[in-house]
Amino acid sequence: MPTERSRIATLAAAVAIALCVANVSAAPDLGEPVSAADLVGLSITIGPDGNGLPPGRGTAIDGVDLYVDRCASCHGVRGQGRTGPALAGGAGTLAGKAPVRTVGSYWPHATTLFDYIRRAMPYDNPMSLTNEQVYQLTAYVLWLNGIVGRDESIDARTLPGVKMPNRAGFVNAWDARDRD
Ligand code: HEC
Repeated sequence: MPTERSRIATLAAAVAIALCVANVSAAPDLGEPVSAADLVGLSITIGPDGNGLPPGRGTAIDGVDLYVDRCASCHGVRGQGRTGPALAGGAGTLAGKAPVRTVGSYWPHATTLFDYIRRAMPYDNPMSLTNEQVYQLTAYVLWLNGIVGRDESIDARTLPGVKMPNRAGFVNAWDARDRD
């Protein structure tokens, strides 16, 4: 004979199943499908090889005024860092006790700089820069690190070829795992 307790448990299970079924039959209200046109402004990822870099160009000289105006308050005029992190310096410190990781000392790909500045900076007004301005600032930050000359044109063709000092300083964890 089922006890009172087990009858209640059976009833509770039946109610739970009924609620689930009711939920499944009501279509989830997840909004509209995203169209390719909607994605144009959002799909802005740049690959390490430069895939996705837009037209435009700029040199460090072109970017000086803009950097002083929009970036230096947080990063310092020479990229030494203020409220924001340092963007330059730190060469040769990574293996020491106090590593200073900057674009120049740490980042493996120059193309990431374009992607990062375009999507995230200035911190207080992200995605407010034109592609041309992002190229200028990319050139400026690379110049601060002594990686490109001040008149060197940075664009979709030249940026992927910029060799970052720490390019060979990374270990691919997947390769290492495969070797074990
Ligand atoms: C209001 C302050 C502020 C301004 C203005 C600003 N930044 Fe930043 N920036 C930051 C902060 C804070 C971070 C760290 C964000 C994080 O780690 O999530 C950062 C990170 C960065 C980084 C990545 C550094 C690293 O090694 O991780 C770059 C590159 C950068 N900013 C470039 C710029 C450029 C170029 C401009 C001018 C268009 C700019 N920033 C303007 C505050 C600022």
